[in-house]
Amino acid sequence: MVEAIEAKKAGNFTYGMVGGGPGSFIGVVHRAAINLGGSARLTAGCFSQDYAKSLETGRLLGVAEDRIYQTYEEMARCEGEREDRPDFMVVTVPNVSHYGACRAFLEQGFHVMCEKPLTCTTAEARELEALARKNGCLFAVSYVYTGHLMAKEARRLIRDGVIGEIRVVIAEYPQEWLMDLVEGESKQASWRTDPARSGISNCVGDIGSHIENMVAYLTGLKITKLCANLDIVGEGRTLDTNAEILVKFSNGASGCYWCSQVAAGYDNALKVRVFGTLGAIEFEQEKSNYLTLTLKGEPPRLISRGNGYIHDNVKAYNRLPSGHPEGYHEALANLYDQFLLAIAARRAGEEVCEADYDYPGIEMGIDGVRFIEKCVESSQNGAVWVEL
Ligand SMILES: NC(=O)c1ccc[n+]([C@@H]2O[C@H](COP(=O)([O-])OP(=O)(O)OC[C@H]3O[C@@H](n4cnc5c(N)ncnc54)[C@H](O)[C@@H]3O)[C@@H](O)[C@H]2O)c1
Repeated sequence: MVEAIEAKKAGNFTYGMVGGGPGSFIGVVHRAAINLGGSARLTAGCFSQDYAKSLETGRLLGVAEDRIYQTYEEMARCEGEREDRPDFMVVTVPNVSHYGACRAFLEQGFHVMCEKPLTCTTAEARELEALARKNGCLFAVSYVYTGHLMAKEARRLIRDGVIGEIRVVIAEYPQEWLMDLVEGESKQASWRTDPARSGISNCVGDIGSHIENMVAYLTGLKITKLCANLDIVGEGRTLDTNAEILVKFSNGASGCYWCSQVAAGYDNALKVRVFGTLGAIEFEQEKSNYLTLTLKGEPPRLISRGNGYIHDNVKAYNRLPSGHPEGYHEALANLYDQFLLAIAARRAGEEVCEADYDYPGIEMGIDGVRFIEKCVESSQNGAVWVEL
């Protein structure tokens, strides 16, 4: 599939980016992932609120100086007027700015790839959905872990009924990086723990949202109600750094989620276990080239990426032979490949149904924001069950 995608995209897309300035995290990952596909060129940007830093990044990346902007509003307006306007925009700024940046680009008719969580409120997320629909814009939310080939294989096995009817989902995402008050030395910690830049939640918003999305992606189950306890660990902090969340799904199954930024010994240990009537599947993002499938009464099997037994539709995402690990960049590149296929089809005048493409769309973004809001609501009311 990778070659077919490369041929179809024919390497002539352009894009603009907001965020991704000096010392930033995810904007740089987006550029690397896009470069992996080799099909889109960066032509415009507002990489920082500090114009000098934005210029520094833009010049380094070969962006023409008159296309490096002071604000994303100016960028949307000026780029929207150009004949050679970019094919899509990438939003990689801290959470509170997602809504404003996406709205500015959608108003100019740009397709958008936005980081998660989509917005800080469900109302904002729904507004973006309506605007995207009105202006015919394609919209992806970069829940990067759904791009892992073995997550796709786990999803395929679950949807083919291999583990039967789902009964229980246990998922966790522990990290240790906020055990100490590192806000002064880490810009990533500084904005994530600040409600003015992060929104109503830190830990659930930042990584609990990945659990919610990954479970939804793998199982297709909808949460009907949840009960959450959010803890604020660290003197002077006002947002959560740890949370336990019980969920109930529409098919009657139960789930138990744990996310933490104060868990010694853990880096980015997202792990999802799905238990069904016939067996179980386990996926870990730090071991993303493998998954474990256990059928009732049989020993666990380790399934490895790149082998002949992987389903053809999934195998098609392979970039490297088995044993040469694929990772975070490849996962995001897989989302971009699908997003660019949809853009290519739209450009060719074809009818595009986003659900036919395997990238997280705006509905997943809305579900994610609603999940965060409901976790905060439940916890603030004494960890009570709340309906979604
Ligand atoms: N999908 C994932 O796995 C994943 C991983 C990390 C971060 N994220 C998300 O990506 C976003 C950014 O996170 P990060 O860790 O890269 O943050 P960061 O602090 O490392 O980078 C943010 C960048 O945006 C710039 N910026 C801030 N406000 C701006 C504005 N108004 N205009 C232009 N530039 C501006 C900053 O100068 C910086 O360069 C967040 O929403 C976060 O939740 C997602």
